[in-house]
Parts: sequence; C-alpha cells; structure tokens
Amino acid sequence: MSDLEETLVLVKPDGVARQLTGEILRRIESKGYEIVDLKMLTAPRDLLDAHYEEHQGKPFFEPLVEFMQSGPVVAVRVAGNGVIAGFRSLAGTTDPTSAAPGTIRGDLGRDWGLKVQQNLVHGSDSTESSARELALWFA
Ligand code: TYD
Ligand code: MG
Repeated sequence: MSDLEETLVLVKPDGVARQLTGEILRRIESKGYEIVDLKMLTAPRDLLDAHYEEHQGKPFFEPLVEFMQSGPVVAVRVAGNGVIAGFRSLAGTTDPTSAAPGTIRGDLGRDWGLKVQQNLVHGSDSTESSARELALWFA
C-alpha cells in the first residue's frame, strides 16, 4: 500500500527548552518516516495567528500563541506512508496528562494541571491542514 504524504511537525518551545528535539526526531525516524526539511526559528505572531487560525476566539488561543512565541521551535517537514495520522498517533492525545504511554506526549509530556498549553509537539491533522501549514512554515 502506498499512501505517501507529508506533514508538518513542530517541536514546541517546551520541547526545545527541555532538550527533547533529538528524542522526538529519533522517534520520527525510528518509525521510518523521512525528515525532508527542518529549521529552527522563533515564530512571529502573524505566522502563529495563521497557523492556529481554527482556534481563534477560543479561551486558550491567546495563551497558546504567547507560549508558542516564548522561545524557538523546530519546524520539520516529514514524509511517509500515512504520516499525517501516523505522527498524530506517535504524538498521543492533546493533553499529556492522559496521553498513552509509548507516545511522545504520554512518555515525555508534563502534567497539564501544571503546564497548560505545553505538550511538546504539533502535527497536522488532515491533508488540507498539512498543505496549508507546510506552505506557511516552509514558504
Ligand atoms: P488542538 O488542535 O485541539 O490539539 P492538537 O495539538 O492535539 O492538534 O489544540 C492546539 C493546541 O492548543 C494544543 O496542542 C494545546 C493547546 N490547547 C490548550 O491549551 N487547551 C485546550 O483546551 C486545547 C484543546 C488545546
Ligand atoms: Mg490541532
């Protein structure tokens, strides 16, 4: 079966600050996904507003965008068969408090009771999102 896709992965500021970039990239590569492009940057506000467009107006939007600007992130273009859903599966559920062991957020994420917004990684959630997000981050 061939379902070659690309997805956008972000190692968020907490992942970079906690020196987990290598561990996260290792999990992506160990699964057999290919790192096609990668860069580190402190994301400007307008990029984050566009990236999180679907969440504008929600109560967590402003703290989320502030957190995402709080330090550098690593943006990664990742390719592989079924990689969009596959990376979300590697990442685990949004709230690391309840994310399953074996996932990035489940193994490495901090309790959201203490560290709301912080969950180490972003992964595109659909083919539409990945195309839109890759165009934003790798323009
Ligand atoms: P979302 O797209 O729902 O999650 P995911 O990253 O798993 O696709 O939300 C985007 C980010 O917003 C999420 O990674 C962390 C933050 N967030 C909160 O801070 N509080 C919340 O209640 C939710 C749902 C998300
Ligand atoms: Mg999302």
